[in-house]
Amino acid sequence: MPQRPYVIDQMISAKSIAARIEDLSCEIHDEFAGTDKLVVVGLLRGSFVFIADLVRELDLPIEVDFLEASSYGDGMESSREVRILKDLRGAIEGRDVLVVEDIIDTGYTMHHVQNLMLSRKPARLKTIALLDKPTRREVEIKADWTGFEIPDEFVVGYGIDFAQRNRNLPYIGKVRFT
Ligand code: IMP
Ligand code: MG
Repeated sequence: MPQRPYVIDQMISAKSIAARIEDLSCEIHDEFAGTDKLVVVGLLRGSFVFIADLVRELDLPIEVDFLEASSYGDGMESSREVRILKDLRGAIEGRDVLVVEDIIDTGYTMHHVQNLMLSRKPARLKTIALLDKPTRREVEIKADWTGFEIPDEFVVGYGIDFAQRNRNLPYIGKVRFT
């Protein structure tokens, strides 16, 4: 598909992301200290870099699982209709669960995933999002931990894509059409 030309302006450096993850991991560690049944659930595909860095900062016995929810397709607008494309491999009943998301935008995805997880009766459910665009919210929801609040810009990098590209950038940048 032809793409309008664009450039990417850096918004959050790799260094700032790493520093923030270190802080967040301390808070998460305090929350889950003593647990031996924590499952860290990454939402594919956007959270794969974030979850990789986050779990390596967590000195806790954890398992990692993944869930894929439908999202933007190749566009820049939320579909608002969330479908589960790939479910968890493991059961979470009675387990502690931490859901890891890349961005909360309208809130539909996190809302849907949270309800799905709760229907499976975990012992404890917590959520973390690297980025939050609060001004875009259509469903009232907030993650237990947020990396950075950002303005209403379309961002890429650090796992996050625009039409499947730019996930491999080590920093978060905003898309600017030229
Ligand atoms: P929500 O359901 O509207 O909250 O959308 C959440 C999902 O939309 C995220 O998990 C991302 O996959 C995607 N998304 C939201 N904002 C952006 C963005 O700025 N760049 C790329 N993907 C985004
Ligand atoms: Mg996503």
